[in-house]
Amino acid sequence: MPLEQENGLRLLQVGQAIGLYTHSPIYRGNYQSQVIGIEDAGVRITLPIEDGKLTLLPVGLSVVVTVNTAQGVREYPSRVLERRAGTDRYLLLEAPAVKKQAPMERLVPVWAVTSGKGGVGKTTVICNLAIALAELGKRVCVIDGDLGTANIDIMLNLPPKYNLSDVVSGNRHILEAVIEGPKGIIVLPGSSGLQEITELKDDDFERLLRQFQILERYTDIMLIDTSSGLSRSVTNFIVAANQAVLVTTPDPPAITDAYALVKVLARAGYQVPMKVVVNKVRSPQEAIDVADKMVFAAKHFLQYEISAIGHVTDDELVERSVREQVAVVERYPKTMAAQDLHNLAATLLGLEVGPTQKEQQVSPLGFLQRLRALIGFRGGGSEKKR
Ligand SMILES: Nc1ncnc2c1ncn2[C@@H]1O[C@H](COP(=O)(O)OP(=O)(O)OP(=O)(O)O)[C@@H](O)[C@H]1O
Ligand SMILES: [Mg+2]
Repeated sequence: MPLEQENGLRLLQVGQAIGLYTHSPIYRGNYQSQVIGIEDAGVRITLPIEDGKLTLLPVGLSVVVTVNTAQGVREYPSRVLERRAGTDRYLLLEAPAVKKQAPMERLVPVWAVTSGKGGVGKTTVICNLAIALAELGKRVCVIDGDLGTANIDIMLNLPPKYNLSDVVSGNRHILEAVIEGPKGIIVLPGSSGLQEITELKDDDFERLLRQFQILERYTDIMLIDTSSGLSRSVTNFIVAANQAVLVTTPDPPAITDAYALVKVLARAGYQVPMKVVVNKVRSPQEAIDVADKMVFAAKHFLQYEISAIGHVTDDELVERSVREQVAVVERYPKTMAAQDLHNLAATLLGLEVGPTQKEQQVSPLGFLQRLRALIGFRGGGSEKKR
């Protein structure tokens, strides 16, 4: 007898393969299993086997069960109720709740990390920042939103199996696409996936929202690596996020392009003050000089507020760590650049701003919903890879 959800969806059947996703400190990852029986007490499944060994997931562990159905990938939160080893081994899982919750995004703070010019160090900063934030006890999810040069996975040597496009198209569950990185950070590999949400029908968008919601359950802060430049895909990410970190270097072309981005946003009525990080500086004073110039110009000519939140020293070991595909805060933690990145993480935590209660009342939308509204509002259609 298949187990059905409220909407009549045939969720589980005996013999069906399922995934179990867990993010507890000890058991992390996506385990494969199979349904043995569906009973009043719960769903009986095989013990997962990993690298040829049985994985004894403990009683009480929270898991997310993912199931491939004719309608696409579905998931439900559950927990291990009973475990039997030995010859008749099995796990008993809590059955899916009968009542399906309306999807509401939990409002996790989302920070877009952006730049006017490419190659100024966005991805380097974001990878290190994520790890430094994790070391400060935050659960961080990094979303690769860079359409042209998505490369967080390369920077951290985390080969992706799937990416956001596979999730948006409904072929993969979000928990199959995420990869766990250093210090337990979660990386959602990119592609043009976030743009494609504009093409989703309402039902499919709700499915995506529910999956995003699961990700948010494991997350205290989300960082999005945007492309650089003035394209709409970049500005959409910035406006949909709660905060924007603008990375520049002291090079005049990088400053000019950063200012151009600020100008586009300010003229479009964007009001959230952008936070500037000056990367590749030779001294703290150089960072102050660059930031001062930008703050002054934005205030004076655009009546728009930006603030400096930190800098990262130019260091050959940063470049080397990128070549070695290990974050500098991990590989060369004693360097000034690594210290700068830790300081930046601490400053960011002090600022950590999600939507205020008032904002939530006015617009109780999460990041995905805001992004979709923005893309839709601007005329729809996905922006293709450049
Ligand atoms: N603080 C630093 N000191 C020295 N080199 C750095 C520093 N930060 C970044 N780099 C170097 O700059 C290069 C570009 O950095 P990164 O790929 O992070 O830039 P990006 O802004 O993400 O680029 P893109 O716009 O192409 O995505 C990297 O190869 C890295 O070696
Ligand atoms: Mg990059």
